[in-house]
Order: sequence, then structure tokens, then C-alpha cells
Amino acid sequence: MNTASLQLDTHGRLRHFLCIKGLNYQLLTEILDTAESFTGVTEQTVKKVPLLRGKTIVNLFFEASTRTRTTFELAAKRLSADVLNINITQSSAVKGETLLDTLRNLEAMHVDMFVVRHVDSGAAHFIAKHVAPHVSVINAGDGRHAHPTQALLDMFTIRRVKGPDFGRLRVAIVGDILHSRVARSQIYALNLLNTGDIRIVAPKTLVPAHAESLGAHVYHDLDAGIEGADVIIMLRLQRERMQGALLPSEHEYYELFGVTEEKLAAANPDVTIMHPGPINRGVEMDSEVADGPRSVILEQVTHGIAVRMAVMSMAMHHRKEVEE
Ligand code: NCD
Repeated sequence: MNTASLQLDTHGRLRHFLCIKGLNYQLLTEILDTAESFTGVTEQTVKKVPLLRGKTIVNLFFEASTRTRTTFELAAKRLSADVLNINITQSSAVKGETLLDTLRNLEAMHVDMFVVRHVDSGAAHFIAKHVAPHVSVINAGDGRHAHPTQALLDMFTIRRVKGPDFGRLRVAIVGDILHSRVARSQIYALNLLNTGDIRIVAPKTLVPAHAESLGAHVYHDLDAGIEGADVIIMLRLQRERMQGALLPSEHEYYELFGVTEEKLAAANPDVTIMHPGPINRGVEMDSEVADGPRSVILEQVTHGIAVRMAVMSMAMHHRKEVEE
């Protein structure tokens, strides 16, 4: 069974959430609408709804994370679930316990959902294939493959700023596309929402083979790539995933692809600036751009909570059927 079909139940609803591929426009829009309904919870004095009361969620992170892990944790708490954070460097994995043994032991503690981040592409899918029928798995980033909740919170942010008609939007994704699970998920999501023009802007060495087949136009020149752009999403240079010299130097990258106020003149005057974080100031972009009035980088972080609440509550829904 492939990743896409594994994540939906027989009624086409979320059972796991592993990748954007395989979702359809309706389901993606339903997640964004559900997230919209949760934004209010965060603004209440008592920031909680009882939807997942009595449920246990484990954040299983085999790779470093700040924003993603903490917003998943907050999202789970705002849904009234009990949350356990497992830092894998302190777990039995370092003592040689296999991933499946770790999983079985956690399942024995009656866990209802795993939120998984792993350096290997396909890790969340592997876990989803092996969990008990009532357990849901949410992918919080696997290798270079997918980071679907990040893509969703990015779509949510764009929809809030630009409105629901993606058909009239030109969106440029600038940076290290080759190593980016975020870029892959974003391109699938932008295509599902029928975005007018999706662009990838990067040096030749940082574009995956067959990038055009994903449904994006490839540019190797920043000015041309961001011309008339309504949204520019910058991505971090993933040094930790680079083998060999794919880049001359960070300084040279900044000269050619770093976004500055001056270079933004090529984009639409009301261009929206985004970045999933963590930002390398002076590499992907200048601080003036990152902190400027057109930047929604911190709004992206805030929206991550509502979007993750939506995905977790929708995936937990299938459990009712298993119990009935
Ligand atoms: C990204 C990730 O980990 O994939 N960050 C994130 O989740 N906010 C991107 C990155 O590490 O550059």
C-alpha cells in the first residue's frame, strides 16, 4: 500500500497524516477550514477545547526541531490531550532497541497517536504500517520526503493574506529545493489548490531532477524567478544534508539568491515573504526583509498550532469507528 492510500480510511477521511500527495482539494480545504475554526481557541483566556480529552499523544522526535515539536505539543494540549515528548537521544534507541520495539512498548502504554519526525524518508509511513488499528500517525517531517503539516500551515497563511483564490497567485519558492521536504509538500499543496504559477528558484545544483514534473517552473536567476511574485517562500540551505560542494560559499549564495529589499523590487509590490524557519539571516535573506512589514514568518509559526490541531482532531476521528 502506498503512502497516499495508507493515510485515508475507506470513507476518504484522514486516518493517518503522512503526505500531501493523495489528498484532494476538498479534504485539503476541509483541514484549512477546521484550522480556521481553531484559531479562536488560542485567543481565549482558557485556551482549551475538550476534543481529545483522555487521549494520549506521543511526540516521537528522532531529529532536532524547535517550532514543529513545540507547536505540535501546544496543539495537543489545546485539544486537552495528554502529551509525552520523547527525545530519542535519551531513549533506548541509542541502546540498540529497534524502532518497532520502541513502538510496541509505547503502544503498550495505550498511546492513541504518534507524531513522528525522522531523518529517514519513509519513516512515518513505516510506523503507520505497523501500528495497532486504533493508533494514528502524523508525519512531522521525514528525511527529504515530506513535511505535510508545514505545507498546510503555509497554505493557511497564504489563504489568510491573499484570499482563497490561488488561481491568480504567482508563488516563488527560493532556495535549497533539492534537500527540502518542505518544498515537495508545498508544491503538491499549491498544485492541489490550483495555484496559477508555481516557481522554483535555485542554483542548478540545488534543484532535484525532474523538478518540472512536480508542476513547477524552474528558474536559476533570482530576478527572473521572483518577477511579479505575490508570495516568496525562502528555504534554508540544508548544509547537514549536503554531501560535497554543492555551493561555492554562503556569501556567494547570498550575492546571487539572497533576498534583499532592493531585489524585492522585481516582485509584486504587495508580495508576502515567508520562511518555515530556522532562518539564516544574511544567507537566504537580509534581516530587513525577514523583519519587514511584508514578512509573515512569525504568523506562520502561530498558524502552525491551529493547523496541527485540525490535523490531529480529524485523524483521531477515525478512532470512533474502530471503537463502535
Ligand atoms: C524545516 C524542517 O525541519 O523541515 N523546518 C521546520 O520544520 N520549521 C525546514 C528546515 O529545517 O530548514
